Amino acid sequence: MSMTKRGFIRVLGGGAVFAAGAAWAVPRLDAMPEAAIAGWKGPSSDECDTRRRALAWAMLAPNPHNMQPWLVDLSELEFVTLHVDRTRLLPQTDPFGRQITIGHGAFLELLSIAASADGYRAEIAPFPLGTEAGQPVARVHFVRDASLKTDALFAQIPKRRTTRIAFDGRPPSAEHIAALRAISDMPLTIAIEPARVEALRKLAIAGSEFEMSIPRTHKESIDVVRLGAEEIARHRDGISLTGPMMWALRQAGVMTHDKAMTPGTLAWNGGRDYALRGYASAAGFGWFSTDGNTRAIQIAAGRAYARLNLKATELDVAMQPHSQTLQEYPEMAALFADMRRETATGEGRTLQMFFRLGYAGDAGPSPRRPLDAIVMKA
Ligand SMILES: Cc1cc2nc3c(=O)[nH]c(=O)nc-3n(C[C@H](O)[C@H](O)[C@H](O)COP(=O)(O)O)c2cc1C
Repeated sequence: MSMTKRGFIRVLGGGAVFAAGAAWAVPRLDAMPEAAIAGWKGPSSDECDTRRRALAWAMLAPNPHNMQPWLVDLSELEFVTLHVDRTRLLPQTDPFGRQITIGHGAFLELLSIAASADGYRAEIAPFPLGTEAGQPVARVHFVRDASLKTDALFAQIPKRRTTRIAFDGRPPSAEHIAALRAISDMPLTIAIEPARVEALRKLAIAGSEFEMSIPRTHKESIDVVRLGAEEIARHRDGISLTGPMMWALRQAGVMTHDKAMTPGTLAWNGGRDYALRGYASAAGFGWFSTDGNTRAIQIAAGRAYARLNLKATELDVAMQPHSQTLQEYPEMAALFADMRRETATGEGRTLQMFFRLGYAGDAGPSPRRPLDAIVMKA
């Protein structure tokens, strides 16, 4: 997530532009650390446990704030038992863990796709002991199946991104919309009519700004922002801000966690402007809702979102979720209701994922921790 050159000049103001010039002269300065994105090359070649090979791919799943809230128990041969890492939740903005569960669904989908590439069927039993907090999310049996073909989406796993940079302003084409609808396991609505897009864009912007205005919800995001290569290498999760321009902002003392928490600072305005530029460039939005909102449905929504994001990758269609106005904390209630109305989400239905769709360059991979960080010790 690096800022554009123009945005950077605006944020820094005249005096520090000189420092920025120095930063641009060194393009690798403060680059994303190689170790933090090594996971995108897939499992190491000497990894022969099929479960671990599939897990290495599953860790690349989209998940809220890149918290990677997964823990796996591999103590039983042929099985992966998936748990929630309860130290990696987002209680302020995701009080019921709906989004965290969606991230688990995405993880299970990638696990299943990757297992197919090794000739294994991943038989997923969601919530085998019920949905009480602390119980496993899924028990997955790896069953050898010689007749199984590699899932066609497997090749897209290392290329998939959440694209936060500005899109080029084109709406998704009719052909791409049809291909996304065809792959979607959930009824998918895509809006590209300018008036509707404008109304949705305004709501998304309002929701993002509103969340930034509430200290406890804004802090939850700022706490997981990783500023610069050193913090990224240390955590390998969260929201990464790196690159030469971010380096110069930090050197100038204007980009710190504290300043990003303080309305009116260059850091706070820069964060808001960055998000708003993304929405301003959106010429299409997509979403799906579900009838009911059980944990199993949330898992299914995550699986559907992962497949959609992978198909979009194949088509070179960029995607970025917007979650603020879908979130269930009390202060968001009015905008939450507006978003339901604008997306025609009916009574009893839950808007699970809402995202902008369009075209952009490669936003680059986001960090992941090593596989052993999620494997439970015996
Ligand atoms: C349930 C869910 C909600 C998300 N909400 C947002 C969001 O509001 N804004 C955003 O930029 N990304 C959102 N994301 C994307 C994650 O931030 C992203 O997957 C994560 O940072 C890892 O990056 P990657 O997808 O490029 O691997 C969401 C992902 C999931 C699964």
